Amino acid sequence: MIERPRRLRSSAAMRRLVRETRLAPSQLVLPMFVAEGASEPRPITSMPGVVQHSRESAKKAYAEAVELGLGGVMLFGVPESKDAQGSGACDPAGILNVAIADARAEVGDDLLVMSDLCLDEFTDHGHCGVLDDQGRVDNDATLQIYGQMAVAQAAAGAHVVAPSGMMDGQVAVIRAALDEVGHLDTVVLAYAAKYASAFYGPFREAVDSSLQGDRRTYQQDPANRREALRETLLDVEQGADIVMVKPAMSYLDVLADVRAAVDLPVAAYQVSGEYAMIEAAAAQGWIDRDRAIDESLVSIRRAGADIVLTYWAAEVARRLTR
Ligand code: PBG
Repeated sequence: MIERPRRLRSSAAMRRLVRETRLAPSQLVLPMFVAEGASEPRPITSMPGVVQHSRESAKKAYAEAVELGLGGVMLFGVPESKDAQGSGACDPAGILNVAIADARAEVGDDLLVMSDLCLDEFTDHGHCGVLDDQGRVDNDATLQIYGQMAVAQAAAGAHVVAPSGMMDGQVAVIRAALDEVGHLDTVVLAYAAKYASAFYGPFREAVDSSLQGDRRTYQQDPANRREALRETLLDVEQGADIVMVKPAMSYLDVLADVRAAVDLPVAAYQVSGEYAMIEAAAAQGWIDRDRAIDESLVSIRRAGADIVLTYWAAEVARRLTR
């Protein structure tokens, strides 16, 4: 026998030497929820270990993220009141913009402050855009608001804005709006291929969403692979700096395609349902929790992600640096 592949698996030291894919804290981004008016962090039942932060508890988490060498935090706001236009999104006193400013004050340039750029946390109907008189999501009216939202987030101090609403033309409008007022260095991380996924279930609880209907007229059909490339290339043409695939684990083929098609950094979002599934199975004693977490993350990296958004970012970074 000439080839004996097992030789390179013979010890932990050997496996470490020849490992193709590695995880580093700097590649991990921690999504965080900050709730308006909260005096204490509030647990999210379907995401054990994840909370809706108060502004104060969030500040501690930003400092810890710096300490751990994370790539960044991705902020989501949970407003106290919502309306049809999602007006809290563009208000400088709105919870997300306030949280961005808190984060920047805490971390300066030692950690990247990223913000979700979407209306769904702010609208009373829960859609990612405003509705027309027939109740349909109005693409072009929504774009105008996204432009204002981008400027509000950049003014609050976001290093990176992350449009996640899957409106056509959103990256171009956001880039133009930012440039027009001089935010030339604000990075656009585009949720380029975002699917209408059941795996966002726990996120609905995390942001107190009251979604009426579903998002299938704007998020992608899970059955479509080639369409993800079309969406991604459109975002690249429109000026995206980083492109993202979401969810991660059920879309590793899409991630590999996107990696092969573009030279930009590629991110993947390990979403709330992916988190909840592993936590729930581990709580039953059915899988080894830490190994399952590490395997899920390394698989996402192996498929092509340079950057991974994960609710385990802090925990995994702590383990990596131990
Ligand atoms: C939209 C947005 C969602 C998530 C991130 N940004 C919800 C959705 O599109 O339905 C989901 C994240 C997760 O499930 O962890 N603002």
